[in-house]
Amino acid sequence: MSATVDILDAIPSYDAPEGGRLGDAAVAAYRQAGVLVLRDFVSSDSCRRLQQRANELVAEFDPADVRSVFSTTKQTQLDDSYFIDSGDKIRFFLEDDAFDESGELRQAKEHSLNKMGHAMHDLDPVFDTFSRTPELAELAKRLGFDDPVILQSMYIFKPPRIGGEVVCHQDSTYIYTEPESCIGFWFALEDATLENGCMHFIPGGHKLPLKKRNVRKQDGRLVTETLDATPWPEDRKVAAEVPAGTLVIFDGRMPHLSAPNQSSKSRHAYTLHVIDRRCHYPAENWLQRSDQLPLRGFA
Ligand code: FE2
Repeated sequence: MSATVDILDAIPSYDAPEGGRLGDAAVAAYRQAGVLVLRDFVSSDSCRRLQQRANELVAEFDPADVRSVFSTTKQTQLDDSYFIDSGDKIRFFLEDDAFDESGELRQAKEHSLNKMGHAMHDLDPVFDTFSRTPELAELAKRLGFDDPVILQSMYIFKPPRIGGEVVCHQDSTYIYTEPESCIGFWFALEDATLENGCMHFIPGGHKLPLKKRNVRKQDGRLVTETLDATPWPEDRKVAAEVPAGTLVIFDGRMPHLSAPNQSSKSRHAYTLHVIDRRCHYPAENWLQRSDQLPLRGFA
């Protein structure tokens, strides 16, 4: 770890600001830590409505059509066009351990999914409504965005018993702009605890270099290139145990991870990744939008 990087012991935590008007102290805390917890940002009604809509979409999905899995450990997903072409669609990704040896789902369909992505916020009215509120627009402004656009949305299921580990990574590896502008908005739709695989962050770790970059090669393959092989200071990770309704904001460079969910409870979360339209978005990034579905901000 570079001596100039000040790794902190805690994640700054505030009550959700009225109207999204994040105060100067909270903004400063975010800049210092690279991560910020905002309690009670979303009402339980809104959380429930999004979960209900996710359930409806899952009900329409037939796992027999797709054996695609997402794994940051095995990266099998990254060669798969089902994933690569999902930037402007609503697609479903199963957990590594979803199927047993005979090819049957081990658990019910809704408890077999890793995530749904990556354009619910532009394609589904309920997700659109959740993702675009005056509070989020104001928050983005206070965080320094000039022209924020929501690049992708993901519904994370983290199902009971088979919810997979997510190894330490930076989201700017996958969502890269020049200059870097990615910020993640992570909404807890259910309580996230140590038992069900809550997120962990390394506060202050956003000042570390970008360690990897995922690029699309000319033949269409996605390759993750290592830019800096220094190990993460994972001994300094801090668990973000947060109740449903909490919003966690984190810098694209923030190292974060989550343990497997071995409990009997799911850990549903919804994430948005926001970039600044004024920054250059390279053609080598995996996620490319068709002209039919232009990127939009919070309005
Ligand atoms: Fe991530």
